[in-house]
Amino acid sequence: MLISTALVLLGLAISRVSAFVTIHKTCKGPTGYEVEFRYVNTTAERVLIGGGIQPFTDQFHTTGTSYRVNGRYNPHDYRPGDFYISNSGLPAEPAYKWPYEMTQSAAGDGVWTYTTPLPSGLYSYAYLVDCNYAPNCSIDTGQLVIDPDMPPFMNVVGDQVASSFQVPFDAKFQTSPELNTNFDYALDAPDPAANRGTVKTENYTSPGSIHPAPDVHDFAVYLPAEYGRVPGKKYPLLYLSHGAGGNGDDWENLGRMSHIMDNLIRLGHIPPTVVVTPSFYNLDASGGFFIYGNRSSSVPVPPAPLVRENLEKYLFPWVESHYDVCTNASCRAFAGLSMGGVLAYEMYVNATDLFDYYGMFSPATTGPYINASDVTANPALSEKGIMVAYGLYDFVLPMARDLQTALDASGIRYINRVTPFGSHYWNTWQDELWWFGRKVLWKPLPFGVQTGR
Ligand SMILES: *[C@@H]1O[C@H](CO)[C@@H](O)[C@H](O)[C@H]1NC(C)=O
Ligand SMILES: *[C@@H]1O[C@H](CO)[C@@H](O)[C@H](O)[C@H]1NC(C)=O
Ligand SMILES: *[C@@H]1O[C@H](CO)[C@@H](O)[C@H](O)[C@H]1NC(C)=O
Ligand SMILES: *[C@@H]1O[C@H](CO)[C@@H](O)[C@H](O)[C@H]1NC(C)=O
Ligand SMILES: *[C@@H]1O[C@H](CO)[C@@H](O)[C@H](O)[C@H]1NC(C)=O
Ligand SMILES: *[C@@H]1O[C@H](CO)[C@@H](O)[C@H](O)[C@H]1NC(C)=O
Ligand SMILES: *[C@@H]1O[C@H](CO)[C@@H](O)[C@H](O)[C@H]1NC(C)=O
Repeated sequence: MLISTALVLLGLAISRVSAFVTIHKTCKGPTGYEVEFRYVNTTAERVLIGGGIQPFTDQFHTTGTSYRVNGRYNPHDYRPGDFYISNSGLPAEPAYKWPYEMTQSAAGDGVWTYTTPLPSGLYSYAYLVDCNYAPNCSIDTGQLVIDPDMPPFMNVVGDQVASSFQVPFDAKFQTSPELNTNFDYALDAPDPAANRGTVKTENYTSPGSIHPAPDVHDFAVYLPAEYGRVPGKKYPLLYLSHGAGGNGDDWENLGRMSHIMDNLIRLGHIPPTVVVTPSFYNLDASGGFFIYGNRSSSVPVPPAPLVRENLEKYLFPWVESHYDVCTNASCRAFAGLSMGGVLAYEMYVNATDLFDYYGMFSPATTGPYINASDVTANPALSEKGIMVAYGLYDFVLPMARDLQTALDASGIRYINRVTPFGSHYWNTWQDELWWFGRKVLWKPLPFGVQTGR
């Protein structure tokens, strides 16, 4: 949600607001937009803005292996065609100077501010208080502070550790002849009543689950604007999984899945579709209790076959009995990012009858992969609508290529997307969802050379 001036004024009037973010259209360079952060803390000695706010780079100074050390630009130096990529693994200071450092007001009132131009895109952020190295800053010690006035989308407090906002594209300042970095497909759709669906978290009965309560597990669900207005109508259903270290709220909080779906539907790329974003940790106690954002957590990613069996047993029937969704494979899809892409591959191989569409987004697959004899044994494998996607700067690129090589060798046709600005990060996964909707979802099967053209 963008922060309006009204909220800012209200906050000052009742002097309750301790933090906010304001987005200004400036009509001047370098990007046409400026973002103002404000955070109040009278005891802090240093405040950095961390989370998903990264330095920028460009394609001429970055490769898939060098982006962590090369060409990191402060957004004040933004040039059209610049993009941000995940910089997790950056050396800690003093080797590297983080660009987003807040300044304390001279008045001694503990007001910290930072103003920066930013180009089109979705950014997530949290404040790093007296802590210089994000991976070491924890909520428990008060060193990682979530904006209390723009809380994340989540079910239970603690399920998300960053808030987010989106900056629009300004063609005058951001158009690049080399690269399209317009992410406005993830902005709020116009005409809310007609175009905007709803998104909420939901608890379901899942015996053995250890979060958010014993035998209760959770997911987030997107219902398109039309949902509930057409008596008896059953909607196509997309399951969309998070990756390692995440949960079912990520796709909305960090990826604005609902906005992307609203825009795909509004522009006629897909019919109204329901989306369910499950959570694959804490389904049972076998791997230990996973706490979102706990950097020292050693809880492993649960094995995909175990997750598949659990979701098939408890989540899928629950969703079918509580929502107006269609129940045959032709109108069901499963997609996921990273380890969620591994889960999508697991569903493709071992739940082939349940879904006709599969999206492996930046999949961290390691094989073994299917081969031609597997396809002979299960011909349905070659009759599905598949997309395998990855970013040009994505560390899983070699894994996703191996998966594609195996599909090629097995005679399986699929849609491919290489995100040209993409690392293993949310702008890549948004792009992958956008193109999955445009090129794959609910398209006639089997796929041929004309599919998606
Ligand atoms: C203010 O900063 C201190 C560290 O000096 C931190 O422990 C505390 O949680 C911060 N308070 C707020 C409201 O962010
Ligand atoms: C981060 O924490 C690890 C483990 O406690 C420690 O070894 C490392 O020095 C810390 N890094 C910084 C930059 O504080
Ligand atoms: C789900 O259950 C947890 C734990 O009881 C609760 O805190 C949360 O509010 C519930 N969420 C919903 C959407 O009902
Ligand atoms: C985070 O994970 C570590 C290692 O698993 C654990 O010792 C610690 O208690 C966890 N932190 C919280 C707040 O639960
Ligand atoms: C699948 O469900 C859709 C919507 O409910 C329906 O139109 C279609 O006929 C069904 N297909 C099969 C093969 O049952
Ligand atoms: C599919 O099921 C088989 C047999 O249970 C299992 O060995 C395999 O790991 C599963 N996943 C994939 C992707 O083959
Ligand atoms: C295909 O993979 C299966 C294991 O899924 C293996 O048993 C078989 O030998 C492989 N066939 C070929 C032709 O490589």
